[in-house]
Amino acid sequence: MSERLRRRAVLAGIGTYLPEKIVSNAEMAERVDTSDEWITERTGIRQRHFAGRHETCAFMGTEAARGALATAGIVPENVGAIILATSTPDQAFPSTAVHVQGMLGAKNAFGFDISAACSGFIYGLGIAEAMLRAGQANHILVIGSEVYSRILNFADRGTCVLFGDGAGAVLLSARDVAEDGPGILSTHLHSDGTLTDILYVDGAVGQPDKPGHLVMNGREVFRHAVTLLASAVNEALAANDLTAKDIDWLVPHQANRRIIDGVGRKLGLPQERVVVTVDQHANTSAASIPLALAQAINDGRIKPGQLVLLEALGGGLTWGSALLRM
Ligand code: ACO
Repeated sequence: MSERLRRRAVLAGIGTYLPEKIVSNAEMAERVDTSDEWITERTGIRQRHFAGRHETCAFMGTEAARGALATAGIVPENVGAIILATSTPDQAFPSTAVHVQGMLGAKNAFGFDISAACSGFIYGLGIAEAMLRAGQANHILVIGSEVYSRILNFADRGTCVLFGDGAGAVLLSARDVAEDGPGILSTHLHSDGTLTDILYVDGAVGQPDKPGHLVMNGREVFRHAVTLLASAVNEALAANDLTAKDIDWLVPHQANRRIIDGVGRKLGLPQERVVVTVDQHANTSAASIPLALAQAINDGRIKPGQLVLLEALGGGLTWGSALLRM
């Protein structure tokens, strides 16, 4: 008797874009009252990329999407939807996703942006997975693209050293696969709207004379992060009847080395199974997970058939996890 197949969202391709300009901690120390030692010790960050004028959210998202399509072997005309997660769109509208659509020539797709801060990529995976399983599209681009350098307050040393710019994209394709086959196994999304005041942008396009800067109560965010992230990860394990031992790789949102290590410790996962890129990219918000995932796939650490757990937390607060088999 033939095995029952199920429709899953399979990761078919991945691409990234990082701005040309790299800014070291020493260079940040020329700009604000900080030091390489302070930044490295508290956060694990050694450098970040800052976008030039032409490296907009749409430009970087398009470049990352091109990479995802190329590795998947899919032409732009076959993309059914483009979901772009960002807190730093080029315009309030049109969405950055439709700018990407135009630049790619993905003329049969529809596109929209989602706003979930650093959890945006996980939210995007959750939405895309549901749409693919429901048969609403066969190929969906999920993109995280951020230019936080445009909203950083360079008079606030407590936040401006933490973030960087970049983009990452995946192409998810609907496929009928066996139970132990590849694809997203589950996604788990959360938010708590009573915590809007610990991490936010104090302005918006719709507010007079106030484009806005990022504001953060770092201690409060830290306090919530490890607990909420560990619970999102445990939720994914429980939903799939797994334990942390079954996980080949944890690919966390790259905010801060201490948060990443804290979650890893809570789960009892050895450091060798946790992908870390915060040292090279700093916190690129919605772009950080696809940037980290791409690095570990491209350098051969993450292999076909392996179980990969993704997690993120960001302004909102928003948080969530996703479990996928490669
Ligand atoms: N360089 C040098 N000194 C600094 C800097 C800096 N860049 N920033 C702050 N300080 C000083 C402060 O002024 C303070 O000095 P004081 O004691 O003389 O007043 C001292 O360092 C300690 O400041 P704290 O803010 O208490 O430092 P803390 O140890 O909490 O570390 C940090 C700050 C790294 C932001 C920490 O709170 C943290 O990791 N928070 C998590 C938040 C995070 O990573 N957010 C990212 C976005 S959210 C997300 O993506 C999950």
